[in-house]
Amino acid sequence: MEIKKVGVVGCGIMGSGITQVCAQSGYQVVVSEINDELLNKGLSSISSFLTRGVERGKVSQQDKDSTLARIKGTTNTKDFSDCDLMIEAAIEDMDAKQKIFAELDKICPKDTTLATNTSYLSVIEIASVTTRQDKVLGMHFFNPVPLMRLLEVVKTIATSDETIEIGKSFGESIGKTVVVAQDTPGFIVNRLLMPFYLDAIRMLEAGIASKEDIDTAVTLGLGHPMGPFALRDLVGIDTTLLGVNAMFNRTKDPRYAPPNLLKDMVAIGWLGRKTEKGFYEYKG
Ligand code: CAA
Repeated sequence: MEIKKVGVVGCGIMGSGITQVCAQSGYQVVVSEINDELLNKGLSSISSFLTRGVERGKVSQQDKDSTLARIKGTTNTKDFSDCDLMIEAAIEDMDAKQKIFAELDKICPKDTTLATNTSYLSVIEIASVTTRQDKVLGMHFFNPVPLMRLLEVVKTIATSDETIEIGKSFGESIGKTVVVAQDTPGFIVNRLLMPFYLDAIRMLEAGIASKEDIDTAVTLGLGHPMGPFALRDLVGIDTTLLGVNAMFNRTKDPRYAPPNLLKDMVAIGWLGRKTEKGFYEYKG
């Protein structure tokens, strides 16, 4: 099936990045948010990213203009009625995602492929509310989406081989390297990474080293582009807590049990870069 038009549900950090890379690759994209304020915030973050790309000489002015022209923002989900592929990038909450998928199943044509960008939730549970479980898959992007080259394509017990092929070829068409994982908590990357990052927080709680020194050790000693604390601030402390709670609930594996510091930070709103304070401060 040829994909011409892509719908993206959610224009937050992940949804705006997904929208951008799809539009930059030549697809028409409809992106939705729950209100105009969030929609405008997401659309202007795409525009700013492209402007920085022009300033760095990575994107031409013409590419920026044509990318933005291919994006249509909406608060009306009926605008998804002629999309060939839907990518849901809403909050990490099963009820919210099931509500969205039940609605998309009604709105979109019968052959539309439905993908979720969930990082931690069960894709088959999300698919269960639709009448097309064979056409539902996970497409898990990484933050920042325009710069990170990996895409995890996730196969449930009901996803057809044809749907996986659609996910793989679409991912390649937007410049990603695709890996395929089964529908298990955390797929490949987060399943490996979260115990490591939670251990870094436990090290900090135990006073073994400062956050700065742990970040330096991981960047210079392991060659990671960012240390665990800088990266958690980028991803969001609340998003991290939601994720590990979901993984812990599904696996009961103590490696995914959230450390107290993570819970405390969410309780007082130190959510990372988006609130200008997480493990580090980001004033201005
Ligand atoms: N437009 C176009 N290109 C841009 C750009 C823009 N607005 N901003 C930066 N770039 C380019 C730069 O020009 C540079 O390109 P070259 O390598 O060709 O020179 C490249 O992107 C890197 O940019 P910078 O040099 O400014 O910054 P950096 O070297 O610090 O890299 C980063 C930035 C890619 C984010 C890097 O820090 C990194 O890889 N961090 C780790 C991110 C990570 O681990 N993400 C995963 C999070 S977990 C997740 O997402 C899973 C989940 O479940 C949510």
